[in-house]
Amino acid sequence: MSKGRKNYIPALRFDCLSPLFDPFLQLTMPENTFKRRLVEQANVKRNNYVLDLGCGTGTLTILIKKTYPEAKVFGLDADEKILKNAETKIKKTGLNITLDKGMAFELPYLDNSFDFVLSSLVFHHLTHDNKVLALKEVYRVLRPGGELHIADFGKPSNTLMYLISLIMRNFEEAKDNYQGLLPCMTKGAGFNQVQITAQYSTLFGTLSLYKGCK
Ligand SMILES: C[S@@+](CC[C@H](N)C(=O)[O-])C[C@H]1O[C@@H](n2cnc3c(N)ncnc32)[C@H](O)[C@@H]1O
Repeated sequence: MSKGRKNYIPALRFDCLSPLFDPFLQLTMPENTFKRRLVEQANVKRNNYVLDLGCGTGTLTILIKKTYPEAKVFGLDADEKILKNAETKIKKTGLNITLDKGMAFELPYLDNSFDFVLSSLVFHHLTHDNKVLALKEVYRVLRPGGELHIADFGKPSNTLMYLISLIMRNFEEAKDNYQGLLPCMTKGAGFNQVQITAQYSTLFGTLSLYKGCK
């Protein structure tokens, strides 16, 4: 795989499958449970700026805004088409959310812009080098004391999850995830108090929630 992949892997790998992303995730993952947990562990305060990195169809973005109505919520994704889906979903809710097109490893925001960055199921779409760059970018756009909260695949938590990881590590850019490298890479970008806050056994292996502070 190329080191500095300049494009992106769409939500279900192929553009034509993107419209199926929401039902697919609902059917195959404990989506409501882990996204709710991710949002609640962030403990966002009034007027905080929150970025949903790789927002896809906007499910997590909407949940953030519904949970913390007084926060300024942004969703960013590399895929213009999926952002259109997110826009349609957000319009139906009447919520005030800003959507931006951009790459996780070249964020179109100024230094110290956000209090929280949340990200769900995005890092396994990034090459190793782009994971490193994206974590540095998140660190740059967070204010001092700001927090990063990630939900993504991680080190297998039991034998069954390990067996599943042997297959899943060959898909997309997930190898680093299943090797348990994300916490170490997060520390390497400058974050402190990096910890795994929850783990879920899923059809695709262990899903871990991580937290790190700037
Ligand atoms: C599996 S989907 C997850 C979507 C959403 N976060 C969720 O949990 O429902 C991964 C998303 O990451 C986006 N993505 C992949 N590579 C990206 C990159 N380099 N920069 C920004 N977004 C990216 C894809 O377009 C896709 O929408």
